[in-house]
Amino acid sequence: MLLCPENTQYHPFEVVEIIFCPLKKNTEKMGKRIKNKKPFQFELVDNLTCFFLDLSGNQMDLISEAAFGNLARLEHLNLSRNRLSVSLGSNSKALRSLGGLKSLDISMNGLSNGAAELLLRNKSSLDQLKMTGNVLIKLSPSLFGESRSIRSLIIEDNLISEIAPQTFEPLSRLESLNLARNNLAFICDFTLHQVKYLNLSRNSVEFFVTPEDAVLYNIEVLDLSHNKLLYFPDVVNETTIQKNYFHANWRLMPLVYIDLSFNRFASFPLETLSLLNSLETLNFSHNCLQNINWDVRNYSDPRQVRQIIFHSLKHLDLHGNILTRLPLLFLKALAQIETLNLQDNSLQPCGMLSGSLSKNRIDFDHFCTAFGQLKTLKHLNLGENNIKILPPNAFQGTSLVSLNLAKNLHMLIHEMALEGVQTTLQSLIISGLNINSSGLSLPCMPALTEINISNNKLNATPSSLGCSPLKVINVRNNDFMTLNYSLVEVVSTNLTTVYISGSHFNCCDSRWLTVLIDMRVKLPDISQADCFTQARNLTMSEYLKSPLFYCSFERDGQGVHFGRMVVTLLFVTVLSIVLIFFSRKLCCTQGSSVV
Ligand SMILES: *[C@@H]1O[C@H](CO)[C@@H](O)[C@H](O)[C@H]1NC(C)=O
Ligand SMILES: *[C@@H]1O[C@H](CO)[C@@H](O)[C@H](O)[C@H]1NC(C)=O
Ligand SMILES: *[C@@H]1O[C@H](CO)[C@@H](O)[C@H](O)[C@H]1NC(C)=O
Ligand SMILES: *[C@@H]1O[C@H](CO)[C@@H](O)[C@H](O)[C@H]1NC(C)=O
Ligand SMILES: *[C@@H]1O[C@H](CO)[C@@H](O)[C@H](O)[C@H]1NC(C)=O
Ligand SMILES: *[C@@H]1O[C@H](CO)[C@@H](O)[C@H](O)[C@H]1NC(C)=O
Repeated sequence: MLLCPENTQYHPFEVVEIIFCPLKKNTEKMGKRIKNKKPFQFELVDNLTCFFLDLSGNQMDLISEAAFGNLARLEHLNLSRNRLSVSLGSNSKALRSLGGLKSLDISMNGLSNGAAELLLRNKSSLDQLKMTGNVLIKLSPSLFGESRSIRSLIIEDNLISEIAPQTFEPLSRLESLNLARNNLAFICDFTLHQVKYLNLSRNSVEFFVTPEDAVLYNIEVLDLSHNKLLYFPDVVNETTIQKNYFHANWRLMPLVYIDLSFNRFASFPLETLSLLNSLETLNFSHNCLQNINWDVRNYSDPRQVRQIIFHSLKHLDLHGNILTRLPLLFLKALAQIETLNLQDNSLQPCGMLSGSLSKNRIDFDHFCTAFGQLKTLKHLNLGENNIKILPPNAFQGTSLVSLNLAKNLHMLIHEMALEGVQTTLQSLIISGLNINSSGLSLPCMPALTEINISNNKLNATPSSLGCSPLKVINVRNNDFMTLNYSLVEVVSTNLTTVYISGSHFNCCDSRWLTVLIDMRVKLPDISQADCFTQARNLTMSEYLKSPLFYCSFERDGQGVHFGRMVVTLLFVTVLSIVLIFFSRKLCCTQGSSVV
């Protein structure tokens, strides 16, 4: 229980939140969260059932030595965002009595190496430890000397630049190690054989060296993003025997996910990565790849190149490199690829002319990339590649479901460009090409549910869209004055969302809008959409408040309504009669005055 201090010499305090929360539904495990606005003192007594205690964010600097004396069964303690480094002697003694702790969070407490070491005494049951946002500089074996059963260790955002030998080796249960956002420059002698998850993101790692021993690694997830790597990995003094050991080890490594993005790679570690038989996701975005040189040679005849295969690779991210071409052998190696992100490179797709496909193949060979080789490919991002021409049959042979071609300025799209994928495509992005309607002809795409044609100069919607069960349409920032009413009516049955702002619509030619509103289609940016009448410009929302007022005398773009004509005629007739009547009356009055 929490006792409010009666002694007046204590600081005033205010408990703003106390939650007694069962951790697991079917056990009697109880815990509490204590949250205070101001510095305070409190006493914890007689709570043998308290398994969980959250004291985070309390500006606490002093825990008296006996404070946790009655919490022998406490298993989970959160002390993050306090000031434990202040009264270290007392605080560490208090924590020492909690020998049964399974998880401990001492993040953001200004802890140095020595301070952390003191707080981790008598922690032989500790399973999870979090020390993010402290000021640790060096990790050494003494730090975890009394907490050797740690399974998950998070020491993000410290100043660690050195890890002494034998620091992690004694932690035989260690599975997950997060050292992101530190100052590590070298991982020499990577010997964390027990670890399954390793995060070294946002350090300054230049070398990642693995020893040439025969011990197997268990690593499944490796994040080395945002570092300064040039090569991966380095094997020290590579001799044939060592290379064989290394290769044998790597082949058995269960690595599923590796993130090498935001490094300085100028070459692609083809052979090493291809050895990883379980590798499914490879992030190689934001590096300096200019090309992928196929330097893999035959064992027997080094003059010949050898085909290698990435047996499990499904997701490859090469966004933000400077690639001009992907060689055929590389494409063939991607035997299981599903997602390929090539945004922001300089690739040109190869194409074929229909009919005699092989003969008339437009063979740029050294200049273009034959995406048709990627039979399993479903998602392709080719945005920002400065593609000049999207040639016929550019993706024929793939299983494309989504295609992003955004921001290829002035790209010419051949009318047969999507041949072969028009029946599988579900999402198509052709935003930001700056093309006009005469440059855009699309085939009938019976599976397409999302299209983004924003940021162009279109004034007419491609009428082939009537074939598609569209759910989301984005036509923002174009030159539309109207949208094809009959087309909108056809596709409106499936539509959920349409983005329309950024064109100069004719208010009085907006039957398409009435259809969308009637069908309860979401128009998320309608408040930013404008339209014009003969008299003035106004916002679409303003116009919608009284459409008749703004447009009653204007010609409808789809033709003058017969009804409106009759009304107008009637009005003119009545007006004429009234005028004639009054003018005659006026004449008579004038006449009589003369008389
Ligand atoms: C400790 O509490 C903070 C909030 O104050 C929270 O962000 C953090 O995730 C908690 N730590 C653990 C291990 O649950
Ligand atoms: C270590 O923790 C145990 C409880 O698990 C406790 O009985 C013992 O007193 C603690 N040791 C010290 C030195 O506080
Ligand atoms: C590694 O840590 C960084 C920084 O906290 C985080 O953004 C990233 O998602 C982590 N990587 C993985 C694979 O969990
Ligand atoms: C690769 O990393 C970038 C940058 O962190 C991220 O945006 C992207 O989603 C990642 N790609 C994959 C396939 O995980
Ligand atoms: C459509 O493209 C625009 C501009 O590139 C972008 O802002 C928007 O998020 C895209 N929408 C979808 C659904 O991809
Ligand atoms: C409007 O769409 C319909 C149906 O798709 C099509 O037949 C017609 O040609 C289109 N009209 C214009 C002016 O594009």
